[in-house]
Formats: sequence, C-alpha cells, structure tokens
Amino acid sequence: MLQGKEIVLGVCGGIAAYKAAELVRLYVKAGAKVSVVMTAAAQQFITPLTFQTLSGRPVHSELFSLLQEQDIGHISLADRADLLVIAPATANLIGKLSAGIADDLLTTTVMACKAPVLLVPAMNSNMWQNPVCRRNVEQLQQCGYHMLEPATGMLACGWEGQGKMPEPQTIRDESQRLLAPQDLAGETVLVTAGPTREELDPMRFLSNHSSGKMGYAIARAAAQRGARVHLVAGPTALLPPPGVELRPVASALDMHAAVMALAPDCSIIVKAAAVADYRPCCRQKQKIKKGSESTLTLELQRNPDILAELGRLPGERVLVGFAAETEQLLDNARRKLQDKNLDLIVANDLTAEGAGFAVDTNLVRLIYRDGRVEDLPQMSKELLAHRLLDRIRDQRGE
Ligand code: CTP
Repeated sequence: MLQGKEIVLGVCGGIAAYKAAELVRLYVKAGAKVSVVMTAAAQQFITPLTFQTLSGRPVHSELFSLLQEQDIGHISLADRADLLVIAPATANLIGKLSAGIADDLLTTTVMACKAPVLLVPAMNSNMWQNPVCRRNVEQLQQCGYHMLEPATGMLACGWEGQGKMPEPQTIRDESQRLLAPQDLAGETVLVTAGPTREELDPMRFLSNHSSGKMGYAIARAAAQRGARVHLVAGPTALLPPPGVELRPVASALDMHAAVMALAPDCSIIVKAAAVADYRPCCRQKQKIKKGSESTLTLELQRNPDILAELGRLPGERVLVGFAAETEQLLDNARRKLQDKNLDLIVANDLTAEGAGFAVDTNLVRLIYRDGRVEDLPQMSKELLAHRLLDRIRDQRGE
C-alpha cells in the first residue's frame, strides 16, 4: 500500500520527535517516498540531518526559503502528498490547525493539502484531557482529519496516563489503512494465527515454531481494506494490529471453541495457525518430577481438526487453509484441500529458503478448488497477505 506513495511527514516539538525517525525508516522500507517538514521547536529535539539521512531527501522547515520557494514550498509539498502525517502532533499544533492558523511551513502545508491528513498527538496527559484540547481534537475530526489516539503509559514528563505517541509500526499500519482500497468493506473475516500450547504441567507445554507473522499480516491487511476482522491467536510476541478484534487463546481446544463461536457470522475464514494435532492425555496438576528411568513416555490424544470442522459448516463463505509441509508439497496440500472442503489452500514448503516460520518472507503455491495451481514468487508476508486477499476477494465475487 505504501509502495511509491508520497508521504509528507510533519514533526512537531515534543520528546516523541525521536520516534519519528523510526517512522521514516519504516515508511522508506515499505517503498514510500518521504518528505519531512519540521517545526522550529522540533529542531530542538532532533536534527534535520537525521531525517535527511533516513529519507534521502532534503528536510523542509522554512516558510520563506528562497531556494525552495521557486516552486512555492508549502504548495508543492501539499500537492505532492498522497498522505500527510503529523507525528508527534503537539497541543499547540492541534490548536493552531483547529483555529485555522497557518503561520509556518507545516501549518500552511496542512491548510493547502487535499490528501488525507493523519494527526498523531503526543503530549502530557493533563494537556490531552484539557477541555480546550478535547474541543480542538473533536473539531478537527469533524473537518475530516484522521486521528490516532495517544497510548497510555509512563510519559517522559514523569506522569502516567494517556498521551504517549503510538509505536511507529502502529502509525505505519494506520497510514497503510488510509491509502488502501476499501474492497473488503462489509466482509467479516476470521483469521487464526500463531502456535497453540498444549500444557503438560504448570510449567511445561508442547508447541511449535510458528511466530504468528503470516496470520497477523493477513489480519492487518484485511482490516486495512475495510473488513471487520477477528483474530484468534495463540501466544506470539507480536503487537496486535490496529482495528482488529484480538482473541488470545492458548491451546487447540481454546482455539476450537473461539473459532466455532465466531465462524457462523464470518464471510471469509483464513486458518493460518499451526494447531497442535495432539495434546497430553492429562495435564498434571503438579510439576512432573524426573524419575529413575532414563526415558519418559508421554501419552497424547488427538485434538479436533478445526479446519475440517469448518469445512462441514453450512453457509456461504470462503474457507482458506494453510499446508505446512516438509515433503511432497503439492500432493499433501491437494489432499488437505479436498479432505477439509476448502476453497483455497496456501502450500508452504518449510524447507525452502525464505519461507515458513519466524522469517519475514514467504514462498508459497496457491491451490484452488478447481485444481489450478498458482506459484507466487518469494515476497514479504505483508505483501503476500494482500495478494492472498486479492484472490479471496475474487472468489467472493464469483
Ligand atoms: N488445522 C486445524 N486444526 C488442527 C490441525 C490443523 O484447523 N487440529 C488447520 C491449520 O490451521 C491449517 C491446516 O489445518 O490451515 C493444515 O494444517 P497442517 O498442520 O499443515 O496439517 P494437518 O491437517 O494437521 O495434517 P498433518 O499434520 O498430518 O500434515
């Protein structure tokens, strides 16, 4: 969604300005072209050189710069933007914008901009709660400005409360959402992600190497494209994607219960989770102590096959599974597609370089119900998520 897009990033004078540097890096990594506009106060917190180095472009700050004014700086910046983001946006900046004041390069650029504007406020929690600030925020929202709520936590000023700038990944995700086509609006998507944990005793469990990255990427992409998204996820170290309804679970039985409760209301289901096929026959209440024997035998029992059960559910929906294989990729995946009554299966060769668990890229083959096979090149899990949703959207259309 950000590939080739022009993003104008305004940076105001707040301690969170240092986090804007990481945001520029994330935008550039996603293929966007970034022009940074700094207020005078922002330059007290971080130098233009940092942004110039990360964006690979000159940084703008002067309203009346002879060199830049040949093409009227604030107008050309406003015209070039596909998206204008201000992070951090201070109480002062929010106040000025809501009052229509345009007295520096950033405020004049916002005033002249017809692209979507995303404000990311960051300030002391008392300033954020101040009725004047509340009124200004509301006024700007009514005028069509997008706003990312500040996070709650320990603030640089020593106070604890709402006012922290959201993490750069969250701002990048919201930017993607604002630029994405809303072609999944009206759909309810259920995604499962991550591993499951099958407990042996209070301190041990059986699990697998799934990181959850693929499922999270699909959930994030679907939310960006306007769907209502339920994400049922086993334990992962990932940040919940914005706009997604996260339902954390641990075991396969937990996941089964959560998925079966949500499924009847979903028009698209993507099962990217690596569900444990077996669980210990009984979970010990106390820690299992080692005995005198040199071996230990565990007795396991089958977990329900959630995807197969979904395949038997009545109703119209697109059902997509994943097949993680280490051998005979196509044969095994085709068998799963048929046995579980799927519309599409994503076949994943775990032995291929740049594919499978933990890495940020994937290399997959898509197999359709009619037998068609589509080979996709190696790509980031984010991009693959969008490709997969393109195909699912087409299937919904059919
Ligand atoms: N799956 C599921 N419930 C299970 C096991 C798997 O819903 N108890 C789903 C996975 O989420 C995935 C698909 O079924 O979408 C295939 O999972 P995979 O582990 O590749 O295959 P299995 O069906 O478990 O078969 P096997 O382990 O024998 O390869």
